[in-house]
Formats: sequence, structure tokens, C-alpha cells
Amino acid sequence: MEFKKGYFITFEGADGCGKTTQIKLLNKYLIDIGAKTLLTLEPGGSDLGKSLREILLHYDKPVADRAETFLYLADRAQHVNNIIKPALDDKKIVLCDRYVDSTLAYQGYARGGSIEELNTLNNIATGGLKSDLTIVFDIESEIAQKRLGTTKDRLEKEGLEFHKKIRTGYLELAKLEQKRIKVINANRSIEEIFSDVKKIVGELLNI
Ligand code: TYD
Repeated sequence: MEFKKGYFITFEGADGCGKTTQIKLLNKYLIDIGAKTLLTLEPGGSDLGKSLREILLHYDKPVADRAETFLYLADRAQHVNNIIKPALDDKKIVLCDRYVDSTLAYQGYARGGSIEELNTLNNIATGGLKSDLTIVFDIESEIAQKRLGTTKDRLEKEGLEFHKKIRTGYLELAKLEQKRIKVINANRSIEEIFSDVKKIVGELLNI
């Protein structure tokens, strides 16, 4: 199956929302119908990004808020330039686990950074590349926290209040950009959630 152009679809949600399971299911579904895909993630979708991811998730001394932001942005700039853009030029369907909205939700709504400033910085890092579709997996923060278990990374260790702010942030973003951002109720079974994912993506791709 050939598409006339590439499509860029991003998956978003608080830690433990189940989006990684869903993005893998979608990737398999698209490959099965003969589409060319690229499944990737942030942070860590490029080679340089793998080193940045290690710092972002496991550096165990205090990280200044702006330093954290710029590390995510450095990861994103390299990822867009070396991985995402070439795949879109090749007319692939790019499925990306987290993108600019994660910076707005985590470094903005949760850490208190200015959304306007972060929008500007995201634009600089990506050269203005926007997703065609972003799916937010919305889940009760308490349920998501339970799913994470005990071995948590640096961001997951932030408590329930932090994750509630992330959830509210995503819902706010979805309200501001209703055409691009679709919210799925992720408090349901994997099958029920995936059926919504297929429907939303099907509408975008006309399949
Ligand atoms: P990861 O293990 O990929 O989490 P998940 O499976 O939930 O996506 O870790 C990525 C972490 O980085 C996650 O806690 C969200 C955070 N993050 C930001 O704070 N800002 C960003 O811009 C991005 C891309 C991720």
C-alpha cells in the first residue's frame, strides 16, 4: 500500500497510560495491511538521542528545569533531522512515542515552564514540523501510578500530584487543538482502546 505522502502520528500520555502497547499494535496492523512505517520514540530515537535518554532518565543528581528542557530539545532536533524527516520524505507513516506535546505537558504544565516559551523552543528544535495527528491516552493518574510498579525512572519517581498536572495539561492541549489532538479513554481494555486507535488513524489515512 503506497501513500501519496508521509504521515506523522504521535502518541502521548502520562507515564503508565499504556500508549507504548498501543503504538506497537498499530505498527503491526499497518505493516499487515502493507504500509511502510517507522516506529520511533523520544527521548532516544536517534543514536545521539540514546545517550541523551540515558542522562534524562537516569542521571541521579539535580537537573535544572531549563537544562532538562534543552536536553529533550537536543534529542528532538537530532531525531527530526536524522530520522523523522527522511522517513516522511520516503512517504512512510511515522509513529512516534512522545513528541513536542510531552515537553508542553511535563516541562510546561507539570514543572511550571512557560507554554509560550516552550512552543517557541519546540518550533526551533523541530524546524516547525508538526504531527498530522496526536493521540492522547487519558488515564486516571492513580491507575497509571499503580501500573508503574517499583522500578521507576527519574520522571516516573515524581509523585501523584506531578502526574495529575500532566494529565490536566494534556487535556488542556487537546482542547486548544481539537483537530490535531484526539483523546482516548485509556481506562479500558487493550482491545477497546485499540479499536478507537484504528478508527482515528483510519480516518486520517482513509483506510
Ligand atoms: P519513557 O521510558 O520513554 O516513558 P514512557 O514509556 O512513559 O514514554 O520515558 C520518557 C520520560 O521522559 C517520560 O517520563 C516523559 C518524559 N519526557 C519529558 O518530560 N519531556 C519530553 O519532551 C519527552 C519527550 C519526554
